[in-house]
Amino acid sequence: MEAIILVGGFGTRLRPLTLATPKALLPLANVPMLERLVRSLPERVTKVALAVHHQADAIAAHFAAVDCERMVITVPEPEPLGTGGAMRNCRDHISGTTLVFNGDIISSLNVEAMLEQHRATGALGTLALWEVADPSRYGVAELDGNAIIGFQEKPAPGEEKSNLINAGTYLLEPQVLEMIPAGHKVSVEREIFTQLASAGLHGFPFGGYWIDAGTPESYLAANAMLLEREATAAHPGASVRGNALIAADAEITSSIVGPDTVIGTGVSLDKCVVRRSVLLAGASATGAVIEDCILGPGVAVGDDCSRMVLTAEGELRF
Ligand code: GDD
Ligand code: MG
Repeated sequence: MEAIILVGGFGTRLRPLTLATPKALLPLANVPMLERLVRSLPERVTKVALAVHHQADAIAAHFAAVDCERMVITVPEPEPLGTGGAMRNCRDHISGTTLVFNGDIISSLNVEAMLEQHRATGALGTLALWEVADPSRYGVAELDGNAIIGFQEKPAPGEEKSNLINAGTYLLEPQVLEMIPAGHKVSVEREIFTQLASAGLHGFPFGGYWIDAGTPESYLAANAMLLEREATAAHPGASVRGNALIAADAEITSSIVGPDTVIGTGVSLDKCVVRRSVLLAGASATGAVIEDCILGPGVAVGDDCSRMVLTAEGELRF
């Protein structure tokens, strides 16, 4: 089976981090989120087409340098074609029933079980669905049994027909890609899924975990969630509190790290307290208390900053 992963978005909600690094290459628990997704695919997925636009070269260079044990190609768009247009643009590179992912999702979805349902129902498309309290930031599916009878993309609060959201993973038959006009900007959610509701689209609700890591808050939450599943690292210079992951080459002296904290490669910390934060490669601080923050690659925090907090608006406050 072959897969398309959509990674051409600008990652606007994660600026300024995404000005220098594409969202797909931002690490989650020290592994770039897209590499994590590619490695987690079932063995039957032998080829992956990455639909790229923004910072396409950085994504291509990354996958040229790592071995993900399957063929990975990049398919660029001269202009962003939207989620549907990007999928259509990959058509000549893939065949058969296709697995499609939004590139900013981590989840416990069992793709094999979803494929089993897809085959059993004979659906044109099957969408993984996840239940949330407030669906207004997402695509919303209305179900009758497993059949999707209505689809709304980002409905106004109160307008949503259910609490089951589009989890950003699809199994699609080739006919669905054929429905998308080539070379046009098309939103698969707004223009294709709405059309296919009641006409062959099915839903696959699942449990476990699911996070779209596309905002500062959800990026921190995705890191924290992975820390619950992956080993907490000890480090000679750090007193670790709760869940934390510290890159082996980080230089840490006299510091307290954790809970829910990821320290990236080449980070240096002296006399710091770091809580509920992610420090990306090469960030450094001395004498600082860092809470609820994402420090970008190479960011140096001024000496003795008593407290830094990432506000809901995405700004650092001292
Ligand atoms: N190649 C390409 N070209 N990729 C794109 C483009 C484009 O023009 N536009 C967006 N993408 C990629 C993004 O990089 C991301 O991986 C994915 O498509 C989804 O775009 P987002 O911008 O993250 O969308 P969203 O989070 O607001 O909404 C989508 O995901 C939700 C689940 O997280 C929709 O699919 C919703 O229906 C869904 O609920
Ligand atoms: Mg998203």
